[in-house]
Amino acid sequence: MKKKGFIFDLDGVIVDTAKYHYLAWKKLANELGFEFTLEQNELFKGVSRKRCLEILLEIGNISASQEQFDQWMIEKNEDYLNYIEKMDASEILPDVPRVLQFLKNREVPIALGSASKNATPILEKVGLLPYFNSIVDGNSVTKAKPDPEVFLIAASNLNTEPQNCVVFEDAVAGIQAANIAQMTSIGIGEPSTLHEADYNFKDFTKMTDEFLNDLLQ
Ligand code: BG6
Ligand code: MG
Repeated sequence: MKKKGFIFDLDGVIVDTAKYHYLAWKKLANELGFEFTLEQNELFKGVSRKRCLEILLEIGNISASQEQFDQWMIEKNEDYLNYIEKMDASEILPDVPRVLQFLKNREVPIALGSASKNATPILEKVGLLPYFNSIVDGNSVTKAKPDPEVFLIAASNLNTEPQNCVVFEDAVAGIQAANIAQMTSIGIGEPSTLHEADYNFKDFTKMTDEFLNDLLQ
């Protein structure tokens, strides 16, 4: 058996925080006088905070000074932090602990591969931090998904080769990053949106132990 590495995205895979990112961006858009739809929010998944604001301003056709831009970044994050402040284990997505425990029982190394700069406090709040051998997040990368940097750093931290890694992702950009890194990509969410993934699951509840065992071979 090859030495495997399993890499989890955070937002929308482990916890349902995509909705809080959406609400915080929507509030800012509304303050600036335009709408921000759930469909447009798909483009924000897996994308850095800075790039999200750039896209939001493009949608609203708004230009901003650097100072104003930085101020809106802070405002969005403060709103987001207000949402996540009250998070607890009840916001872990279905069957995530089962899959993490399955891997831990088999001593498979696990990494986080997220664009978020808020990843560690969120994992602490929901009590899942001890499962992770490595945290690679928005504070550790210079290039955003679909660049594979975040997953390549995770593979290296887990002391394994990219080809031996499995990535769980809910973002199109994240699936593309995993594919570019030659990792096995598993889409968590809408299969029609994530059709570039090697495998698709609506959520972890349908992911059997047999499937996970096959991934370990
Ligand atoms: C990703 C989310 O995980 O993290 C994006 O899918 C978000 O929507 C990005 O913009 C950055 O998150 P944060 O917490 O650093 O603003
Ligand atoms: Mg995500």
